[in-house]
Amino acid sequence: MGDRLQDKVAVITGAASGIGAGTAKLFHEHGAKVVLCDMQEGPGARLAAELGDRAAFIRADVTSEADVAAAVDLAVSRFGCLDIMVNNAGIVGAVGPIADTPAADWHRTIAILLDGVFYGMKHAARVMVPQRRGSILSIASTAGVMGGLGPHAYTAAKHGVVGLTKSVASELAQHGIRVNAVAPGNTVTAMTASLIAGDAADHDATAAQIARGAPLGIAATAADPAYGLLYLASDEARYVTGHTLLIDSGQTVSGGIPAFHNGDSRLIGAPPVA
Ligand SMILES: NC(=O)c1ccc[n+]([C@@H]2O[C@H](COP(=O)([O-])OP(=O)(O)OC[C@H]3O[C@@H](n4cnc5c(N)ncnc54)[C@H](O)[C@@H]3O)[C@@H](O)[C@H]2O)c1
Repeated sequence: MGDRLQDKVAVITGAASGIGAGTAKLFHEHGAKVVLCDMQEGPGARLAAELGDRAAFIRADVTSEADVAAAVDLAVSRFGCLDIMVNNAGIVGAVGPIADTPAADWHRTIAILLDGVFYGMKHAARVMVPQRRGSILSIASTAGVMGGLGPHAYTAAKHGVVGLTKSVASELAQHGIRVNAVAPGNTVTAMTASLIAGDAADHDATAAQIARGAPLGIAATAADPAYGLLYLASDEARYVTGHTLLIDSGQTVSGGIPAFHNGDSRLIGAPPVA
């Protein structure tokens, strides 16, 4: 329990599962009122009911601008304002060689991962600009800062999320609104479990595999990106905007454990002493 988001109102997309659900729980624990949106009505509504009075669920497809607008409007009508928008909903999307990628799969992936974020930013700004305060957050990915870590459409969309975060931050700073992103590395959720273990519910096998590939030797859970979002959502981050916070075990800076760091210490290339 804590009070880092006491009385703040948040909308979280993709909140029925994984990182979105973890974020909804953490924000709620820290005093926020949360509107959970997802296409999965059963688990989304159940989580909102578990959280109680300070939570509501709305079925929303982030590829529909009207659905995203309605989620923002629910936050205002039920809880009085919107302090925090979390654009999180996502899928893996189109996979396979670029030459074989059907255009329809490409467009569907971009619609969820990038159009959905645009709608979230747009409708959050509609409410936040007159309030003159707010924090808009989006979930990018390590695939949003490097090539080769995800499929093509996913990588393009996540780079788009990082770019849009910078661009919208540069506009909304004058209104007192901060716009940031969190870029997780592999995190144990239904999405990675389906990919890695072939079973959305097999989190143990997924965690073991993720830990093996992580420089820190541990697997991230939904709580790891959620703690980054908690900081960026809170007033502790009042001077931070346009930033993408990597939460990736150092994967994008280390690329593994270079041979240089192990074995005896020595100076390579030193001129011979006369
Ligand atoms: N898990 C990882 O390793 C990882 C790493 C980097 C980034 N991410 C990103 O984190 C976000 C959350 O993913 P997750 O790993 O928690 O996956 P998840 O599958 O557990 O959760 C994703 C949620 O989004 C919802 N969703 C999908 N399409 C939607 C739509 N059109 N409208 C509304 N809701 C929709 C799903 O129903 C689900 O509840 C995604 O944007 C994903 O790209 C995940």
